[in-house]
Order: sequence, then C-alpha cells, then structure tokens
Amino acid sequence: MNKTIFFTGAGISAESGVPTYRGRGGVWEQYNYEEYACQEAFDRNPKKVIEFHKVRRKAVGFCKPNAGHLAITAMQGATIITQNIDGLHQRAGSKTVIELHGSLWKNRCNYCDETQEIIPGEFYYKTLCNCGRYFRPDIVWFGDSLKEHNIRQAMHAIEHCETFISIGTSGAVWPAAGFPELAKSHGAMCIEINPEPTELSYMFDECIREKASVAVPKLVKRMLEK
Ligand code: APR
Repeated sequence: MNKTIFFTGAGISAESGVPTYRGRGGVWEQYNYEEYACQEAFDRNPKKVIEFHKVRRKAVGFCKPNAGHLAITAMQGATIITQNIDGLHQRAGSKTVIELHGSLWKNRCNYCDETQEIIPGEFYYKTLCNCGRYFRPDIVWFGDSLKEHNIRQAMHAIEHCETFISIGTSGAVWPAAGFPELAKSHGAMCIEINPEPTELSYMFDECIREKASVAVPKLVKRMLEK
C-alpha cells in the first residue's frame, strides 16, 4: 500500500479557475455565507440557495483538472483527503478520494435521505425530491457536521501514513486544520505546498512556496524517483 496522503484545499483548484474561499476574490468575500451556505438560509429561502449553487456548478463545470490534480494520479495507491467540493480530483482520474466537505455534484433530501448524483457539466436536474421537498446540495455548510465515517476514514489513513502533503489550504477550518498535527504526531514526513505561509506552516518539515501546478508535479517526480 502506498502510504502517501495528499490533503488538498481550494488552492489546488485555483489554477483551474475555481475561486478560493478566503483572501482576495474569495467566495466568502463576495457572498455572505449566512445567506447562501447554511441550513438556516436554505430553510428561509431554498430557491435563492439553490440558484447560488446552480451558478457555482455551472462555473465549476467548465473548469478542468490542472497539472497539480493530474500529477497526483501518478502516485498510485495514495489517498486523497480533500476539502474541495469541485470533483476535480476524480475528473483527473484519482480513485481514492475522501471528500470531507461533500460534493457539488450530489444533492440530498433532509427528510427522506434520497440522494441525487449530478453529472459535472449537466445543468438540468430535479430540484424537488420525490417526497415533494427541495433537494439541498450534499455539501458541509457552515453549522453542519462532517460525516462521521469520512472523518474516521481520514484519521485512520493519516495515522498510518508515511508522507503527508498539504496542498493549497489555509488550515483555517476544523477538524481538517488538525490533520497536519495528527500526521506529525504519528511520525509522518509533512510537506506543505502553498505560495503563502499559513498558520500551520511551522508544523511542516518542508514548505514549498510555489503554486500547486508547478510544485506538485516536481514533488511527485522526486518521490517516484526515490
Ligand atoms: N497553489 C497552491 N496554493 C494556493 C494557490 C495555488 N495556485 N492559490 C492559492 N493558494 C492557497 C492560498 O494561499 C490559501 O492558503 O490556497 C489557500 C486557500 O485557502 P482557503 O480559501 O481558506 O481554502 P481552504 O483551506 O480549502 O478552505 C477550507 O473553508 O469555507 C470553507 O468549506 C470551505 O472547504 C472550504 C474550507
């Protein structure tokens, strides 16, 4: 088994054209999450929240995996733990992807647990479940809990990994922000790829201050040549 973990955040998809969440041009600078990304907003005005996600799906549907996503697929057997909801790792060809924050490409009904898969780039899908209620995106919104089995699976993989590579995440959101420390405490070699220092940078054995599309292919090549 390959004991490498790629732990990814919005930064790896930034060069594919998917905006990051924080910083200049970030999603939360343009949109108030209290109006678009929490259960209360959906309960108040489901159509407004559905429309916001429709616009995001449309934008992300046109984005393609970049050299960073593609390089990761060369490390066969590695585990990807992502905070991203864009599905770009899977579209690049990665198989083992733990989506901590859910997926833009899934809907669910809070009442009857019905789910709906949405094909990236397919913009016509049902907004109502068979029970008559609105589907909500199967995304971890503000105030939602992460899925227990996802956290357990992620933590198990981290506790047994040899190399933990964090790519393009500010490390601001828990419990994901605790993952580098978990990896370190279990003896993994920890590497950060981010053009900017983060609050967690001090914890890494190596920090690569380059964009993901440049740094990930070089790092994967280096590791495969070892
Ligand atoms: N390559 C690598 N990193 C980059 C690049 C790039 N080309 N461009 C930007 N970055 C870095 C930024 O410096 C920043 O540290 O990506 C990071 C993006 O941080 P955030 O926008 O906070 O994204 P993320 O850490 O994934 O956010 C976590 O917050 O709002 C929630 O649910 C949302 O999953 C998201 C979570």
